[in-house]
Amino acid sequence: MIDLHCHLLPGIDDGATDLDVSFSMARAFVDDGVVAVACTPHILPGIYPNTGPDIRSRVAALQQQLDDAGIALQLLTGADNHVVPTFVPDIQRGHLLTLGDSRYVLVEPPHHVLVPKLDELFFGILVAGYVPILTHPERLSWIKGNFHLIRRLFDAGVWMQITAGSLTGAFGGSPRYWAEKMLDEGLVHLLATDAHDVKRRPPNLAEGYEAAAARVGRDEALHLVYTRPLVVVRNEAPTAAPPPPKVQIEKQDAYRSKQPSSARQSHRGFTGPGDGSAVSGGILGGLRRLFE
Ligand SMILES: [Fe+2]
Repeated sequence: MIDLHCHLLPGIDDGATDLDVSFSMARAFVDDGVVAVACTPHILPGIYPNTGPDIRSRVAALQQQLDDAGIALQLLTGADNHVVPTFVPDIQRGHLLTLGDSRYVLVEPPHHVLVPKLDELFFGILVAGYVPILTHPERLSWIKGNFHLIRRLFDAGVWMQITAGSLTGAFGGSPRYWAEKMLDEGLVHLLATDAHDVKRRPPNLAEGYEAAAARVGRDEALHLVYTRPLVVVRNEAPTAAPPPPKVQIEKQDAYRSKQPSSARQSHRGFTGPGDGSAVSGGILGGLRRLFE
């Protein structure tokens, strides 16, 4: 598996506090079946003032230390890029980082505030030739009431990354609900750990994979943790990746598409005197199906 979102670098954000924790996390990743991770520390002005060049040198240093210790984990550069008005020029000047210098870039909006014109920011990133990856939409408190925005961004070409712990319930009921809903509706491209340590928010991609597999099957679960991440690592076009399948929404759409014909049958049932079977099969059957 490949994890494209984690806070493995020591001492530069709220992730690994020191090198010991980084090493423990790295070993946990390997034990979990992960072969490569993108180091994606926060870049958030005023709180985590990290920069692209500094992250690059820290990733190179940690990779050397892991290699020296015989820990077989490939590191990629990256960042948990928080939304800023200058997002695109900040990527272009190297202040913000894409994933492994690919066209794919993590974008993290504020958790509790839906900032104005967020859609325009994402569209601007797309127009500039990047593929924005919206990080953990299921954990954004404003998703409730704004799910249409998630769908619109998805339709525009924004990739969606949900968190392994959301599917296992580690973040509570609401993130789990939205994560499962997004999976069911075929709106998820990537599953990542967003790991910060080895206890509270540990490397748990295998657990997330199992939870996803129970929901959408093993083939799609593998796409979430390997096939699509590999497309990112290879910097291939999004069209090279298998599209997320619509699971329940297809059933719902198929169900809805049957309603007009059921309604027509019902109508015929009413207008055909004495045709009790048409009435029960039509209106009553239709009503029953509505509540089944
Ligand atoms: Fe993160």
